[in-house]
Amino acid sequence: MKVYLMLNYQQIYKNRYGKETKVGALKTDLPPLLKTILSRGSVRKFSKKNISKELLSLLLTAAQSAPSKSNLQQYSILVLQDEVIKSQISNLIGNTKWALKAPLFFLFLADIRRNIKITRNRGYTYKNNNLDTFMNSVIDAALSMQSMISASETIGLGVCPISMIRNIIEEVKNICELPKGVFPIAGLAVGWPEEKSSISYRLPQDVVIHYNIYNDENLSDKIEEYDGRVFETAPISEDKQRHVNLYGVAERGTWSENISRQLSVPERDNFKSWLKSHGFNLE
Ligand SMILES: Cc1cc2nc3c(=O)[nH]c(=O)nc-3n(C[C@H](O)[C@H](O)[C@H](O)COP(=O)(O)O)c2cc1C
Repeated sequence: MKVYLMLNYQQIYKNRYGKETKVGALKTDLPPLLKTILSRGSVRKFSKKNISKELLSLLLTAAQSAPSKSNLQQYSILVLQDEVIKSQISNLIGNTKWALKAPLFFLFLADIRRNIKITRNRGYTYKNNNLDTFMNSVIDAALSMQSMISASETIGLGVCPISMIRNIIEEVKNICELPKGVFPIAGLAVGWPEEKSSISYRLPQDVVIHYNIYNDENLSDKIEEYDGRVFETAPISEDKQRHVNLYGVAERGTWSENISRQLSVPERDNFKSWLKSHGFNLE
């Protein structure tokens, strides 16, 4: 028999957006998984408690249960267990070192190599090393990561995806011997949480969700309102503000100020040429 939990959707909505919903009460009970999804937040501190082999296998199975474009399964998952390899990466990753201290650390890899080999082994010419295949492999890897995230969080584990890994992509390639056609879209730290995750407010639905036609009228007003809500509860502190050396400390540590600062400075702008040198044609 399925176990359902009464959820107070109004409260969940308020926690996620920082404002009330006009939608009425739901007339159905919802399964606990949904509560986890709706109230999740990233975790960056983990206890030393290990995760059993059986649980690891379950999480990997959850990851592989994600949908995959044409079931092409164009991704791989690297489980980092070797302490020497972990410390080599940890030494390169600056103040993201904490992530490698998690009991589990994965690299989610977009992988077009396997199917190139399979196609050729069967005597066919592979003709799909292009931008579309690249994107499909990234989507596959991202969905499998999300599937592992939801599975982990449902059983009380904490997680944090780590794109910082792409800042040292060449080094990670060498350390983990990633062949051409295989690259990490992100790392994922998983462990028993040693801190309570907080729920960060998301953009209001009328900014992100469009009905029938795309409409971004009154964006500035809506963002100002959102900034106000975020600022009231979780202003972006000086140490979390982006590019303070370039722009100084922001008077108001708002979401839009911070993302604008971040996006005004190119990040990983050699990524395309790196991918091209690493087996992705992107044509
Ligand atoms: C693809 C991806 C890469 C991320 N990379 C990092 C990272 O390198 N370091 C980090 O501390 N958090 C990272 N995060 C976590 C985000 O910062 C976090 O999801 C976001 O701030 C929203 O917070 P929440 O997950 O607690 O709701 C990443 C998240 C995603 C989806």
